[in-house]
Amino acid sequence: MIGDSVREAAPLPPVPAMPLRPARALSVQTLLRTVPTNSLAVLDDALFEELIVFRRYLLQPVVFVSDPAAIRHVLIDRFDDYPRLTSIRRLFETDLRTGSLASEGETWRRHRRVATPTIDHRAIRPDVPGLIAIAEQMADGLAAGPETVDIERWVGGLATLLWNQVVTGGDPAGIPILRWLSKVPHKPRPIDLVPMPAWLARHFVHHRRDPARAELDRQLHAMIAARKAPGFTGAPDLLHRLAHARDRQDGAPLPDDEVRDEAASLIAGGAASVRALTWIWYLLALHPEVEARFHAELDAVLGDRPPLPEDLPKLTYTRRVLDEVMRLYPPIPVILRQAARADVVGGRRIRRGTFVAVLPWIVHRHRRLWQDPDRFDPDRFLDANAAGRPKLAYLPFAAGPRVCVGASFAVTQMLATIAVLGRRFRFRLASDAPVVPFGAISLQPKGGLPVRIERR
Ligand code: HEM
Repeated sequence: MIGDSVREAAPLPPVPAMPLRPARALSVQTLLRTVPTNSLAVLDDALFEELIVFRRYLLQPVVFVSDPAAIRHVLIDRFDDYPRLTSIRRLFETDLRTGSLASEGETWRRHRRVATPTIDHRAIRPDVPGLIAIAEQMADGLAAGPETVDIERWVGGLATLLWNQVVTGGDPAGIPILRWLSKVPHKPRPIDLVPMPAWLARHFVHHRRDPARAELDRQLHAMIAARKAPGFTGAPDLLHRLAHARDRQDGAPLPDDEVRDEAASLIAGGAASVRALTWIWYLLALHPEVEARFHAELDAVLGDRPPLPEDLPKLTYTRRVLDEVMRLYPPIPVILRQAARADVVGGRRIRRGTFVAVLPWIVHRHRRLWQDPDRFDPDRFLDANAAGRPKLAYLPFAAGPRVCVGASFAVTQMLATIAVLGRRFRFRLASDAPVVPFGAISLQPKGGLPVRIERR
């Protein structure tokens, strides 16, 4: 545990660590029963104590890597030797084909070079005033609506509108496309996870394309074609930027089909922000003293007006709150890789084919990396407190060449939304029932998060 000593306020109460951890590794039978209900509930206590843990599940060797130096080895230094799991990549491939969330090797590299400048901090700057205006408008609706809402659902609706503004410039036809892609990958069937060669997988996995999705796909193609056509007069939204983007290495654009695939991939990736925008209200409701400081900062920076883009960098406490929310409830709790060759990780030999699990859910709550890891304490992210901590003890957006391409946009969009809502409302948990984090591809509260709205 490193660098958690400086505090600005009195000690904070602990957050209930949910779901409860089994004391020991589960038997394969219990594990198979538990995974479908909650994949995080299978993670036993030892994983939060040891930095490298070897396990074998149904003959498959798995190494849990939480040691920051070993994480660097896997995700950065030897990144080419640790591709994504084929079975998971295939799930994404059904809808995203060559898109960066689904590809590897040279195809991925090219997509990544083309996509990054279309969504980096410079590209999204002109979008920010529009995002704030939409969030304010939705907040008006919240103020005028019922006293209790499922904030996860509500924030999901808002995030879709915001994302659609960026992707299509606010074209209502974009909404069903975003909704379809936000559900990618679809819930796997057991057959989807069985190792098999690509030609067989195409038969079993790729066939799941239904007519409704084919129609949305056709519309996505048409939107991109419209932006490529001479005389297009719309705003230079994300689809437009992607349609005209060129590979900085050879100046070539992506082929039309691949522009569609990359657009689909970026759209699908964009769904993750909803999670942090939900968990923040849960944690603030449990920690009134943090909430009071958060409100005090908003009042000091914004006074009685909506935020402006230039206010966002001034919201330094709010940013620490957001960072701490993503530490305790990482929106993407699991990062999985597979060793393409035999190697040594964290001083231990691993065989080719070993699954390598870097779990932000574990790393962020690891007892060897964080003091009082289950406690919600935004001041961990004060420079003085973060100084001695290994950088890779915190990786909500992953790290290395495959780091989240939307990280900069996600942080800006989340800060803007949090500022708009926090300036106007306080949310109180509407039920005493425990809020159980449910790990699928992303981390969500099981059954939503009903809250009572109080106007500030
Ligand atoms: C709080 C919000 C977000 C979090 C925590 C998050 C987290 C992550 C993580 C952990 C990965 C790596 C996954 C892996 O390698 O297994 C990733 C990749 C990715 N994310 Fe995000 N993400 C967020 C928002 C976004 C947004 C807004 C976009 C859209 C622009 C996006 C697009 C992507 C894409 C396309 C990839 C694949 C990158 C590649 O493999 O090169 N994400 N994200």
